[in-house]
Amino acid sequence: MASITLKNITKTYEDGNTVISDLNLEIKDKEFIILVGPSGCGKSTTLRMIAGLEEVTSGDLLIGDKRVNDDAPKDRDIAMVFQSYALYPHMTVYKNMAFALELRKVNKKEIDRKVREVAKILEIEDYLNRKPRALSGGQRQRVALGRAMVRDPAVFLLDEPLSNLDAKLRAEMRSQIIRLHQKLQTTFVYVTHDQAEAMTMADRIVVMKDGFIQQVDTPSELYEHPCNMFVAGFIGTPKMNFVDAVLVENNHILYLEFSGYTISLPERMQNNEKLRGYLGKKIVFGIRPEDLHANEKYENENKTNRIDLHVEIAEMMGSEIYLYGELGGEKIIANVPSNRKVENNSDVALYLDTNRVHIFDKETEELICD
Ligand SMILES: Nc1ncnc2c1ncn2[C@@H]1O[C@H](COP(=O)(O)OP(=O)(O)O)[C@@H](O)[C@H]1O
Ligand SMILES: [Mg+2]
Repeated sequence: MASITLKNITKTYEDGNTVISDLNLEIKDKEFIILVGPSGCGKSTTLRMIAGLEEVTSGDLLIGDKRVNDDAPKDRDIAMVFQSYALYPHMTVYKNMAFALELRKVNKKEIDRKVREVAKILEIEDYLNRKPRALSGGQRQRVALGRAMVRDPAVFLLDEPLSNLDAKLRAEMRSQIIRLHQKLQTTFVYVTHDQAEAMTMADRIVVMKDGFIQQVDTPSELYEHPCNMFVAGFIGTPKMNFVDAVLVENNHILYLEFSGYTISLPERMQNNEKLRGYLGKKIVFGIRPEDLHANEKYENENKTNRIDLHVEIAEMMGSEIYLYGELGGEKIIANVPSNRKVENNSDVALYLDTNRVHIFDKETEELICD
């Protein structure tokens, strides 16, 4: 059993800075969980506390049912893989992988069996006699993974393991790591600043900001129902558009009013009490670029959802085009299929899919409804 529980975890560094405050998280046995957030938000600190490389200032850290706050890293049945790989440069690949087992006084035959088994899984059998400097970045990363794997840990901790690889290799290694997780059937806690990496790999994602957890959810729930503007803007590319608007009512129907437009809100929001509390007030609505359509079939019944966008730049991406323009002083982006031809500096009618609108409190930036 290798669930991990963080209860009211706080971390204050020696300089007096509290970088994690009252963090609560339950990681399930065999789960692939990813901590994501901007640089400096406390991801590595959290991971290093789980590893035992940083002391927990207050709170309880449990692995399985056991409180491990005071256990040394070697007694925690975990293995950590770093962005820098941290391989021993003077040792061969074989020795790099065997070393931890030798320290544990595992017999030579068993070490050999284990190193070769893991090398086979990672397809690094041909490099066992090389030194790390004679390997490519991707090969080094696989050796770093192999070094963690030979110990059969109950938990893998990975801190930005792909950040030093080029884009193509990163994409390849993503699927390798997903397959590895499926094969090993152990708990993976993975840290990245890259939301796309988190979205493609995780069972669940923990979005962090300034040492606080913002939301813990599956990739699709995070995308469909972000709990605040930070999460909404952080998850998804191109970014969600945010537009200031006022909530108004006309003939018992709620509308969003902004820069000359009055767009009716969908049926399911009409009787939302929380939303109605914002009548006449300023709110912010969010709409993802792919929910602004260039196709007329997206015009709604009462024909209120059309926006005329002056497209400054149309960026051809292959199967789609990104249209950059301005709406009520805010920069906005629409993402439309590329069978639609759009020129730079042209005007395009866009239809806003009101079913996909997210409405936020302008002050607190929390979600009101979606
Ligand atoms: N050893 C340390 N001493 C003091 N402050 C630190 C130390 N390590 C990290 N920090 C600070 O803690 C905050 C979180 O850092 P970190 O956990 O590395 O963030 P992330 O991994 O999300 O980029 C940052 O403000 C960083 O400057
Ligand atoms: Mg970090």
